[in-house]
Formats: sequence, structure tokens, C-alpha cells
Amino acid sequence: KRPEVGPTQCVGPDYRTESQKPVATVSTEIEYDNVITLPQTPQLIALLTMIRDRNTDRADFIFYSNRIIRLLVEEGLNHLPIVEQTVTTPVGRTYAGLQFQGKICGVSIMRAGESMEQGLRDCCRSVRIGKILIQRDEETSMPKLFYDKLPEDIADRWVLLLDPMFATGGSAIMAVDVLKSRGVPEERILFLNLIASPQGIKNFATQFPKLRVVTAFVDQGLDEKNYIIPGLGDFGDRYYTM
Ligand code: PRP
Ligand code: URA
Repeated sequence: KRPEVGPTQCVGPDYRTESQKPVATVSTEIEYDNVITLPQTPQLIALLTMIRDRNTDRADFIFYSNRIIRLLVEEGLNHLPIVEQTVTTPVGRTYAGLQFQGKICGVSIMRAGESMEQGLRDCCRSVRIGKILIQRDEETSMPKLFYDKLPEDIADRWVLLLDPMFATGGSAIMAVDVLKSRGVPEERILFLNLIASPQGIKNFATQFPKLRVVTAFVDQGLDEKNYIIPGLGDFGDRYYTM
């Protein structure tokens, strides 16, 4: 039996009547099948609220971002190929389960994407990680490629591409072009991202219709400096230097 709930108790959306549900900004609806938005649970919205708050200090920003990154990695892994795997339990019964199949690697778009590497390592112990250093020009917002170092056999792997912010989409598009030039097919790339803009998603999905994007939230748009709004400001600065 469900507990009696008063209007001021916070025990999750299923226990509330419509009129008792709290109001929060909602993720923008996206029409592309290859873009997966994480389930908009109260936990996720509370975590996003923490990292969006300009008054959140660096330690909390890192802690709560890391929790969202973990959710993104767990969801991203759901898109890898699997095969059936039956095991015997300690009480001698069988359990028909699954196991992952296929080699993977992470690729972070530096600097901010490096913040997502530990979350991937926490789920995939000795995962190989490549790096692509792309920086957006502060005046023009155009991305510039400085450096890449990728696993030699990347063309045989599934790639989890990591960058928390997806604004115009320019940096991610450039990174995917590098991956494709090394022989990685679009359909074997999963782009994991915390906050996306509708413009970035449209640009990306039009160019790479077979590539999957997993994002925590699609925001309202971009401001005149191509920052995501409402956004959270500069992710790299808040995670690494502020
Ligand atoms: C940020 C972010 C993305 C890019 C998003 O990186 O991490 O890489 O901007 O913008 P876009 O979609 O318009 O290309 P930035 O270049 O600011 O560098 P940083 O990682 O050092 O913060
Ligand atoms: N990079 C960020 O860190 N934030 C934005 O809003 C856009 C690009």
C-alpha cells in the first residue's frame, strides 16, 4: 500500500497528484530518433539544478556533474551490442542473461570532455581512451583542431565520444570528422553529452543521421555569444579552474 502523502513531502513523482507535482523547466522535445534524452527523473533534475546554479562552488559542481556523467555512461552502454549468456547461480539454477560484445574505447574532446573519462572508467575498468583537442574561438565560436591521439585500432571499436556541452555542434562535428577519417563508421559512435542545444542537435543529426547522441537535457537555445541558455556557463572553467 502506498504511504499517505501530504502536500509538503517529497517522495517522488509517482506519489503525487498532478496538482502536487513541482514545476521545473522541461527538456526541449526532439524529433530525431537517434537522439536519446535521459529519463527526466526528480534525481536528474535536482542534479542539473545544482550544476546550473551560479552559486554552486567547484567541489559541488564536480560532484554533481560526475553523478550525471555516470547516468550518461550507463545509458550509453545500453546501446552496445549484446549476446545471450546463461549462467548457473550458487543454488544450482540457471539464469538466462546477457553479456556485452564488441570492443569499445572512449574519446574525449579536450578540455571539458576529459571530465567524463573517470565516469567511463568506473564502468569499464581498463577502457582505452583517445583524446582530441578542439577549442572554440571565443570571438567567432568556430572550432579549431589542435591535436589528436587515438587508439591505433579505433576503426574496429565502438567509440564513446565525450563532451559535456553541445552548443552550435561545431566542436562535436569536427571530432566526428576526425573519427570518420580514421575509419570509424558513424553508426559505431555514441556521443555522450550533458547539455545540448536544439541547434547543435539539428546540425549534428542532419550531418550524421546514423550516429547516436545520449544527452541529459536539451536546453532552449543559444545566446548571442553561442552559449547555451539557460545552460550552466563555461563547463570547462567551472570543472577545472574556477
Ligand atoms: C566547449 C565545450 C565543447 C564546445 C561546445 O569547449 O566543451 O567542446 O565548447 O561548443 P560548440 O558546440 O559550439 O562547438 P571549449 O572550446 O570552450 O573548450 P574547453 O573544453 O577548454 O572549455
Ligand atoms: N561551452 C560551454 O562550456 N558552455 C556553453 O554554453 C557553450 C560552450
